Amino acid sequence: MTQDVQDVQAAQAALIAAARQVREQAYAPYSKFGVGAAVLDEHGHIHAGCNVENAAYPQGWCAEASALAAMVAAGGRRVLAVAVCAEAPEPVTPCGGCRQKLREFAAADCPVWVADLRGLRASHTLGELLPHSFGPQHLKP
Ligand code: THU
Repeated sequence: MTQDVQDVQAAQAALIAAARQVREQAYAPYSKFGVGAAVLDEHGHIHAGCNVENAAYPQGWCAEASALAAMVAAGGRRVLAVAVCAEAPEPVTPCGGCRQKLREFAAADCPVWVADLRGLRASHTLGELLPHSFGPQHLKP
């Protein structure tokens, strides 16, 4: 096995573990649907976050947004890989809004690993989840 493959597998395992762990902190009293997300930044650091709901329902936010906020606060500016962990009949991919939020910091080939408590359920790239996306390059003169 090449070092690259080992590195990706190690990153995948670490990100899924972080997403699974932070999911336990989810504040989801209304939906009862806890989600954890973790992102790997350009410094090799992992940042994790959970969904945070609100009695004024639309004011709640997703786990991916929490993970991105943690990354930015820590100085990270690029997302190299993403993991999401939730328990559902089908693999839980990031919602549309979170795909766009991730797009700000991630390239089209960024892996998005989707897991549940048993482990990896699905693997996509951000470009597959959000094709023909609008991004920072559109605002360049
Ligand atoms: N949720 C996330 O945190 N991430 C997703 O990718 C999908 C949905 C949250 C939002 C809300 O708190 C709960 O899951 C039910 O929609």
